[in-house]
Amino acid sequence: MPGFRSLADLGSADLAGKRVLVREDLNVPLADGKPTDDTRIRAALPTIRHLVAGGARVVVAAHLGRPKGRDPKLTLAPVATHLEGLLGQPVRLAPGVVGPEVEAAVAAMKDGEVLLLENVRFHPEEEANEPGFVAQLAQLGDLYVNDAFGTAHRAHGSTAGVAEHLPAYAGFLMARELEVLGGLLEAPGRPFWAIIGGSKVSSKIGVLEHLLGKVDGMVIGGAMAFTFWKAMGKPTGKSLVEDDQIPVALRVLEAAKASGTTLLLPTDTLVGTDPKGAVTGTHTDTDMPADAIGLDVGPASVAAIRQALTGAQTILWNGPLGVFENPAFAEGTLAVAAMLAERTAAGARTVVGGGDSVAALEQSGLADKVTHVSTGGGASLEFLEGQVLPGVAALEKAALASTRA
Ligand code: 3PG
Repeated sequence: MPGFRSLADLGSADLAGKRVLVREDLNVPLADGKPTDDTRIRAALPTIRHLVAGGARVVVAAHLGRPKGRDPKLTLAPVATHLEGLLGQPVRLAPGVVGPEVEAAVAAMKDGEVLLLENVRFHPEEEANEPGFVAQLAQLGDLYVNDAFGTAHRAHGSTAGVAEHLPAYAGFLMARELEVLGGLLEAPGRPFWAIIGGSKVSSKIGVLEHLLGKVDGMVIGGAMAFTFWKAMGKPTGKSLVEDDQIPVALRVLEAAKASGTTLLLPTDTLVGTDPKGAVTGTHTDTDMPADAIGLDVGPASVAAIRQALTGAQTILWNGPLGVFENPAFAEGTLAVAAMLAERTAAGARTVVGGGDSVAALEQSGLADKVTHVSTGGGASLEFLEGQVLPGVAALEKAALASTRA
């Protein structure tokens, strides 16, 4: 039972005619004024549509990039246009974030209309969660809905601060992300396997340690596997190794042994001399040449992963297994995407979180063949590390305060 209230707790009578301030994560990549990946915008639609259908006046707050003050290059105008197309109704872009002009635009709204505020990060007070700015923002709504799971790891004005001023609810996307990711860690179907890739042990150590003891088995892939190879005294050639993380890798190996978790490290790798170049050979963890860079898991490792995942009932994937942006080194990562799709078809629960693995999944065309693709990059990583997300904590605090009121 989550400790926050969600949109499902509100009926149409609670929404009709109300100004609802909704925080969405619409931070999407843009090129030539158009989103190149609109996953996050589409993921926001169920909440916005529900509010529109309930007759609310929907005031959407969102950020784009990391502007230092007002920056026309980071206007949300292209996002408003795209959202308008997906919703099939006008989406007006407010002239700013807070202040009299914006308040007038909100006051002029009719039931069922949607207004997108300008990039909330045009105000440094947003990231500072500055009380005066937060109070102004809160004036724009009668209710607050936080649907921005992807930004829930930020303790900003629009993601946390406003929850202290308005009745606060989680949107459908936020609730689903927390339910799926939370359920994964709390009550997974077993065997439960995690596949953790990426280039650096240092950026994944929190996840590795939090998952050990929760999962039955863990695959470690990507360049960070070479730090483990080196820790085990194996040759790594010129592969990326974080020497200062060798003690950490040894700690993980020990912890896996102590918790009875199967740790599956690659035993072979496709090598090259340049991440952007071609495959020059395949080598094992005993015959790596001194000048080779490991850039993808090799065929024996792919076969071992496939074997390990046979029968897995829950699979969590975070991080690519090689330099998948280069097709020459994408095979291992794409093979994992296909394995997840196969296991999903066989009834397993499969969850993909983290920007790069989601991009790889999109590249494989299999994004709709897994149980859940998280919209959170940093947020899902922090959640999987067991950290409290400030956006979620704010919703929980608001729910608690409402029961005391
Ligand atoms: C993201 O893209 O991960 C979120 O939108 C958060 O963005 P930020 O890292 O700039 O806070």
